[in-house]
Amino acid sequence: MVSQFTDSFDRSFYYLRLSITDVCNFRCRYCLPDGYQPQGVANKSFLSLDEIRRVTRAFVAAGTEKVRLTGGEPSLRRDFIDIIAAVRENSAIRQLAVTTNGYRLARDVAAWRDAGLTSINVSVDSLDARQFHAITGQDKFQQVMSGIDAAFAAGFSKVKVNTVLMRNINHNSLQTFLDWIRSRPIQLRFIELMETGDGGKLFREHHISGSVIRDRLLMQGWVSQPRGRSDGPAQVFRHPDYLGEIGLIMPYEKGFCASCNRLRVSATGKLHLCLFGDGGISLRDLLADDDQQDQLQARIAACLSTKKQTHFLHQGNTGITQNLSYIGG
Ligand code: GTP
Ligand code: 5AD
Ligand code: SF4
Repeated sequence: MVSQFTDSFDRSFYYLRLSITDVCNFRCRYCLPDGYQPQGVANKSFLSLDEIRRVTRAFVAAGTEKVRLTGGEPSLRRDFIDIIAAVRENSAIRQLAVTTNGYRLARDVAAWRDAGLTSINVSVDSLDARQFHAITGQDKFQQVMSGIDAAFAAGFSKVKVNTVLMRNINHNSLQTFLDWIRSRPIQLRFIELMETGDGGKLFREHHISGSVIRDRLLMQGWVSQPRGRSDGPAQVFRHPDYLGEIGLIMPYEKGFCASCNRLRVSATGKLHLCLFGDGGISLRDLLADDDQQDQLQARIAACLSTKKQTHFLHQGNTGITQNLSYIGG
């Protein structure tokens, strides 16, 4: 039995990002510009409900207090509600979150909440419907906006929104985003565009540091907030005139990896120690039976001792990560 997953740089892991499918119905320019292409992995080989139950149980027994369901688009799984309930069987989990493109929110968010989901992150790269369409390849801006309203109506007290920051696309729209969150309990997070194997050209044309936003926020009286041990990587800012918050996710900033508290498991059951790491270590042979929990934990703990101190994005090394749909961002 392992009571807490740790690595050799004194980092403890409280947060599991579990991808449950690679499939996505959007075509975000920085992720899947040509749409989802099956990689010889048939849908049926994504983790089953029982495998999801076992992998989350092993992580929770080793200190994980937050699980995030990612994809692809996680809500495209027909058994998504059963997955939420299965993860929720771990009563020690404090947060069960999903990161979604928002496509199914309006229809299903109340049922997700009933099944035990506690937090929602939605991707919205533009507040202009035409630009949203151009970035995501889907004319679904109104549907996603209605989905966010539906999340509040279903009882979520806060929704987090992810906006990938892109030079000359949305980096000049800060005021529009601020006006939107003035009276809404939304934490809007600008994410620095990350280079992926497929996304080199876009990165060179549109990457811009989040510090341009941070400088403007600080000048306008926004104040940095402390970060909890199972929180994601955002630096969060508040302002007395705004109900919403702004977050900045700046993976290119020095020291970003020092506070890494998360591990990833892909939809086919591979453990990834970093978003930009190598091939991943298969856990699947240890997900077949309830009796394998000790072995499963021992394998994860042994892998963790090889976790590197940081990603190598500054050297332009994106590991095997062709795009973020495979391991869920
Ligand atoms: P909260 O805990 O709700 O703040 O969530 P989160 O920010 O951890 O989750 P989300 O899925 O919304 O991720 C937001 C962005 O942060 C995505 O673009 C992720 O790819 C990015 N991100 C999360 N963890 C890491 C990481 O370890 N390394 C890098 N480079 N990016 C990360
Ligand atoms: N750079 C930054 N963020 C990205 N995401 C997907 N690909 C990239 C990238 N190349 C974001 C999505 C989603 C989150 C899970 O990851 O917008 O909000
Ligand atoms: Fe789909 Fe998310 Fe990738 Fe957009 S960023 S194509 S919504 S997986």
